[in-house]
Amino acid sequence: MKVIIRKDSSEASLWAAHYIAEKIKAKAARTDEPFVLGLCTGSTPLETYAELVRMVKAGELSFKNVISFNMDEYVGLPVEHPESYHSFMYTNLFNHIDEPEENIHILNGNAIDVEAECAEYERQIQLAGGFDLFLGGVGEDGHIAFNEPFSSLQSRTRAVTLTYDTRAVNSRFFGNDINQVPKLALTVGVATVLDSREVVILAFGHKKARALKDAIEGPISHYCTLSGLQNHPAGTIVCDELSVGELKVDSYRYFKAVEAAEA
Ligand code: GLP
Repeated sequence: MKVIIRKDSSEASLWAAHYIAEKIKAKAARTDEPFVLGLCTGSTPLETYAELVRMVKAGELSFKNVISFNMDEYVGLPVEHPESYHSFMYTNLFNHIDEPEENIHILNGNAIDVEAECAEYERQIQLAGGFDLFLGGVGEDGHIAFNEPFSSLQSRTRAVTLTYDTRAVNSRFFGNDINQVPKLALTVGVATVLDSREVVILAFGHKKARALKDAIEGPISHYCTLSGLQNHPAGTIVCDELSVGELKVDSYRYFKAVEAAEA
């Protein structure tokens, strides 16, 4: 696992956006096959998305041959609800880039047959050739996508019950009323994310410090599902100084030294 530490979230977001852009361009330079990208929601990726949008508008990057799959969606929230992950993605990314509509995949949280919806999502990912890169965030309890504590690290796309903590944290998007936050969500599984050829996780702010400590230094455990990244051959956490505040000084220095040596 690599840990890229930047002064603040803006610098880290720029790093991530340019890293993703370079990966898309590198694949386009060697093959006509699409770049398959996993995407996340939340406050954390906003600046990364803004920079990707800027690059597309400046003609520096194209999503014409990108196929994307979002990691999760609330169950029962209308697609047009401002806090649905559909709304989030179109508002912050898809409305501003040149990714063809048919290449955009987001789980349908209103599907009548949830099991069929989740199985079909996994099938579509396989059909696309599997993920080249999965961009994710992390919950304050260390969850990846909506894989709450005690999700199997072998899990696949499915419906999950959100923890009280996650609903409380996300209530800030629902007028601070936890009762407005859906109790269920559809999410890709931990194994779905870890099957990606590369995984990039963003984490900013002191509120993520405990999650990063558990994920980076703790044991691999279903209690902190991001810890599954320890078994991935190409996992990178891109973070700011505040979010690594709970790491051991030696760990922090080592990650800095690795980056300096590879620069
Ligand atoms: C939700 C999402 C996750 C996201 C997490 C962190 O739980 N399902 O995918 O990583 O929130 O959100 P934020 O970036 O707002 O801290």
